[in-house]
Amino acid sequence: MKSAEIRTRFLEYFRERGHRVVKSSSLIPDDPTLLLTNAGMVQFKPYFLGLVKPEFTRATTCQKCVRTTDIEKVGRTARHLTFFEMLGNFSFGDYYKKEAILWAWEFLTVEMGLDPNRMYCSVFREDEEAYLIWRDVVGVPEDRLVRLGEEDNFWDMGTTGPCGPCSEIIYDLGQEFGCGKPECRVGCDCDRYLELWNLVFMQFDRDEKGELHPLPAKNIDTGLGLERLASVLQGVATNFETDNLAAVLEAVCRLSGVRYGEDEESDVSLKIVADHSRAFTFMVGDGILPSNEDRGYILRRLIRRAVRHGRLLGIDRLFLPELVDVVVETMGEAYPELQQNRAFINSIVRSEEERFTQTLRSGLTYFRQAVEKLRVEGGRTIPGEVAFHLHDTLGFPLELTRELAREEGFALDEEGFEALMEEQRERARAARLEEGYSAPIQEIYAEVLENFGESEFTGYETVSDHGRLVALVREGRAVAQASEGEEVELFLDRTPFYGEMGGQVGDTGFVRSPSGEARVLDAYRPAKGLISHRARVERGKLVVGDAVDAEVDQERRRAVQRNHTATHLLHYALRQVLGEHAKQAGSLVEPQRLRFDFTHYAPLTREELHRVEELANRLIIEDYPVRAYVTTYEYAVSINAVALFGEKYGDYVRVVEVDEISRELCGGTHVARTGEIGLLAVVSEGSIGANMRRIEAVTGTEAYRYFRRRMEMLEDMANALRVDLDGLPQRVERLRQRVRELEVELRRKEREGMAALADGGISWQEDRPAGMSVLYAEVPGLDAQALRELAERTLARRKAAAIAVASPEGEKVGLVVALSPQLVDAGLSAVELVRKAAAVLGGGGGGRPDMAVGGGSGREKAGEALRLVSAEIRRTLEGAHA
Ligand code: SER
Repeated sequence: MKSAEIRTRFLEYFRERGHRVVKSSSLIPDDPTLLLTNAGMVQFKPYFLGLVKPEFTRATTCQKCVRTTDIEKVGRTARHLTFFEMLGNFSFGDYYKKEAILWAWEFLTVEMGLDPNRMYCSVFREDEEAYLIWRDVVGVPEDRLVRLGEEDNFWDMGTTGPCGPCSEIIYDLGQEFGCGKPECRVGCDCDRYLELWNLVFMQFDRDEKGELHPLPAKNIDTGLGLERLASVLQGVATNFETDNLAAVLEAVCRLSGVRYGEDEESDVSLKIVADHSRAFTFMVGDGILPSNEDRGYILRRLIRRAVRHGRLLGIDRLFLPELVDVVVETMGEAYPELQQNRAFINSIVRSEEERFTQTLRSGLTYFRQAVEKLRVEGGRTIPGEVAFHLHDTLGFPLELTRELAREEGFALDEEGFEALMEEQRERARAARLEEGYSAPIQEIYAEVLENFGESEFTGYETVSDHGRLVALVREGRAVAQASEGEEVELFLDRTPFYGEMGGQVGDTGFVRSPSGEARVLDAYRPAKGLISHRARVERGKLVVGDAVDAEVDQERRRAVQRNHTATHLLHYALRQVLGEHAKQAGSLVEPQRLRFDFTHYAPLTREELHRVEELANRLIIEDYPVRAYVTTYEYAVSINAVALFGEKYGDYVRVVEVDEISRELCGGTHVARTGEIGLLAVVSEGSIGANMRRIEAVTGTEAYRYFRRRMEMLEDMANALRVDLDGLPQRVERLRQRVRELEVELRRKEREGMAALADGGISWQEDRPAGMSVLYAEVPGLDAQALRELAERTLARRKAAAIAVASPEGEKVGLVVALSPQLVDAGLSAVELVRKAAAVLGGGGGGRPDMAVGGGSGREKAGEALRLVSAEIRRTLEGAHA
């Protein structure tokens, strides 16, 4: 029975029993605690933990898995693989032990027709329930039931997470596969007892402290090794002879000319290459790239081990891409992502093989020389320095040195190696401190850089170019293709798109391939030398490896260039007008405008600003050529090119010069002649901090529009005032004067209105102490001036001796007191009286002895304040008489 048929029959068997058939998930797990998907249950972890409620309670999958914990055993046993397919059925709080056990047994013995007499079942020592189901429900004889400890029959996915006791179904391959030791029985590490199926009764969650907590529900997680079952059904001795793996193994034999089964050591190499080829093909297919960290490093190791064992088999040329093809052909139907990503996988594997071949060549030479020397000297241990040099300078992973040493019968001083590594880490830390902290490059960009090198920027010369799409990144992961509607980052081997840098914004435009088109929304540099195009696929799809046309939005780029050259002109003009201290502190160059920050100690006068603007415009009108060239930093400094303060420059720098006038170190794109800028208008100038000013300006069409908008404003004003533009200033001056006149007139009218009030509009209250007339009233809404005038007039017209007025306005109350000369002579003071009255209102006042104003708040107390004034006058006058 072919593997494909086993796969289908398994899924079908469980589908008929109410299971949802779910696709294999990616090898990159959606789980930060795990580097690679290593079991079928990984994608269901949130369901087991009860974090997410699934739409279904039963599922079945055929899951691609990678496990490298036993990598050293691969090729040396019949059953160990780094890549394998795991068939599984899962219950999320639905059925439990009985169904799981019965179905597994039925599937193997009835569906697959395995001989029950060759099977053993193991259970966890304390799991009486499972034991009884096997014995009493399934009817497995007791001598085929084995109780084992935690080591074998308690499954967990790692140090934390869901786990539980398990039960395994084991197939006895027969004595001839055994190790022959007397203690060889179920659980023995040799090839005789093959663990086919693991049934996990998942009921605990293990926390960081190692404590077990019951899960919200009891679950089933099973895993049946497809290759192992196939080996039994196909009657072959090892996984490597089952149909899918055999195809790869045969290809390795063909490529190397080595026959399988003739020599034990070369068999190991054949098997390693076959196994690893499947693993790296699937890993790259899921978007993992070779790197020096985490899963990228596992991938790199697998590829490199395959290369090395290929060399051991005598393959002396690039060969892994051919094995990728075989894997894609045998597995592509079940895993269509392999077919879709074939070109991508091929190119990644190829470049890693090429790179490693180089490493291997120089490393092996060095290693052999070291070994020769040791032999002569009679040493038995490869020194740490040799391993360190191999690692640090020649890129040899330690495992490789270890393996080579073993092959040569030498020990390896790993402690010495570690000590040197630690020293080096220390040096790196110190160097980092010295340079100041710079943000680490995100891993994915480091990987793109490492695999494809820097992006060649061709945008100084052109705005459209042909290139190759070398990588696609979506949500931080390398992918092989992107289709309509998706937002991705594109990486090209060469590109005319300027990636944001030195204040100049990134380009926008289009990237087109034969099969699709993406709109580039922005271009930036996530790492030095790397240009990323942030883009949305608008039509069809883009596939890694495609030849593409890259086209920058030309209009927009031109506008940006005008503004960029204009900042250089402004910089120059500012230094001419203000002095050499006016240095660039920052800039932003966009298509619509430019922003230029510089050091200066005071606001620019209007005249200074005009001189700057005029000088910049003169340089534009005189149409100077703009040139750029790369030269050494020393030379650039010697010709006084302006460098930015605090900026780090390499040995080679790019100088942008405007004729003989301005020279700056700059990586940006510029107009060819200043005349292209057309026009420059400063639109604002202001402070952005101590001794730091900012100018905003526009150029070209934007500058023209800016002036035109202002012109229109003036014209609109002139129209509104019914004069022509030239008459506008005079008209405005006349209007201002008229306004002044009208204000005077208004005051006069107000006073007249007040007089009318004084003449009779107010109902005064009168008090007559000592025969004199004291008048007081509340009159709302008067200010201090009006109060004074009212008091003055009333005093005169009514021949009164004293006037007091309170004027509430909102919560505030204004007060005035006016006294006749007799009362002042009698010793009274308007100031004192107003202050006393104002005190009632919680306020104060002041003025002259005959006239004072004040105020406070609380309109309900205004009457009381007025009566107090009157009472005070009476007290003084009558007291004097008495
Ligand atoms: N998770 C269990 C295993 O990996 C059963 O699928 O063995």
